[in-house]
Amino acid sequence: MSIAAHPVESSLLTRLATGTAGAVGKEFLRCLVTELAGALDADMAFVAERCGDGEACTLASFGKPGVELREGQVFTLAGTPCEDAYTHDLLLVSRGARLRYPEDAFLRRYALDGYLAVALRDGRGEAIGHIGVISARTPLDPAPSELQALRIFAARAGAELERRRHEVALLRAADEERRRIGRDLHDGAQQRLVVLGQALDLALRELEADPGRAVARLSAAREQAVIAGRELRELAQGLHPVGLERGLRPALSALAVQSPLPVRIEALPDERPSAVIEATVWFLVSEALTNAIKHAAATELRVRVTASDDELLVAVADNGAGGACPSRGTGLQGLRARVEALGGTLAIHSPRGAGTALTARLRPRP
Ligand SMILES: Nc1ncnc2c1ncn2[C@@H]1O[C@H](COP(=O)(O)OP(=O)(O)OP(=O)(O)O)[C@@H](O)[C@H]1O
Ligand SMILES: [Mg+2]
Repeated sequence: MSIAAHPVESSLLTRLATGTAGAVGKEFLRCLVTELAGALDADMAFVAERCGDGEACTLASFGKPGVELREGQVFTLAGTPCEDAYTHDLLLVSRGARLRYPEDAFLRRYALDGYLAVALRDGRGEAIGHIGVISARTPLDPAPSELQALRIFAARAGAELERRRHEVALLRAADEERRRIGRDLHDGAQQRLVVLGQALDLALRELEADPGRAVARLSAAREQAVIAGRELRELAQGLHPVGLERGLRPALSALAVQSPLPVRIEALPDERPSAVIEATVWFLVSEALTNAIKHAAATELRVRVTASDDELLVAVADNGAGGACPSRGTGLQGLRARVEALGGTLAIHSPRGAGTALTARLRPRP
């Protein structure tokens, strides 16, 4: 179909492209709904994200004066055309929406009767949101090329929703990590330093009257200081891996040397990936190692990192008990959030009795 032959029909695509040019994040969604409502002369256009059971949350909306759907407003999907939007790729009710969806209070309140929606999908094809366009004027009758333009921009909006989800997951993982560090500091080094201070106080007081006792207190205090030092070192190592600035090999070797469980590094790429990818590989190996020691009763951990033009494959496997379940902790969930935020995927294969394998596929230069 040539553009020249259908100048009017192709205008929605141009309008959406122009109206959203340069906009990112939520602003992109806002521009999109504003342009859509304007171009289709609709009373309301919005983007909503599926949240919770049978509900959707409005992320961006544009309504003609008097027609309001607030950003952040959560609404129930049951009995509305929005519910059907999730089972149809594209749903068009040119007229008669109120008759077809008598329970929809929003359509009733604003006397809206034409409804158009397209589902927004994530990278796995799951419907995670929708764009809705609602009109009082009927028939709401977009041209085929306008529907095509809507589909194209729905793909972009779907990618935007997915990006936001990764961002939220990453923030949650970072919060959880901070909480864990705070807990570790409080229960570990901080407690030991308090005990150490008390032991030194007592030793000072007893120094003259009972030197033997003072010496015993001092040697107990020294022990606490050594343990506190080790705990702080381990904590610092988890925050910023030693040796990583020199590359994966020295950093992973340092991890292996300190480990009570043998770590076999079978392959590492010749060329260094970007710093954020190297850190991610380190965290993958470190968490897999901690888990193998803590939960698996494994006798070894194998690490393979291989690179092709468009992918870095990280495979870390122990030969222990299996049965890993991400919902029981935060370590594996945090890893998945980190990998997905970089546009990668993490597969966890952990059949009972047959070891645990983590396989991450990463883009080498995200
Ligand atoms: N390698 C493994 N072998 C057997 N079970 C495992 C293994 N890794 C994890 N698991 C199981 O899966 C659960 C979740 O692991 P995850 O690493 O997410 O949390 P965690 O290790 O319990 O705590 P943390 O949040 O400190 O990592 C663990 O509690 C454990 O029961
Ligand atoms: Mg763990």
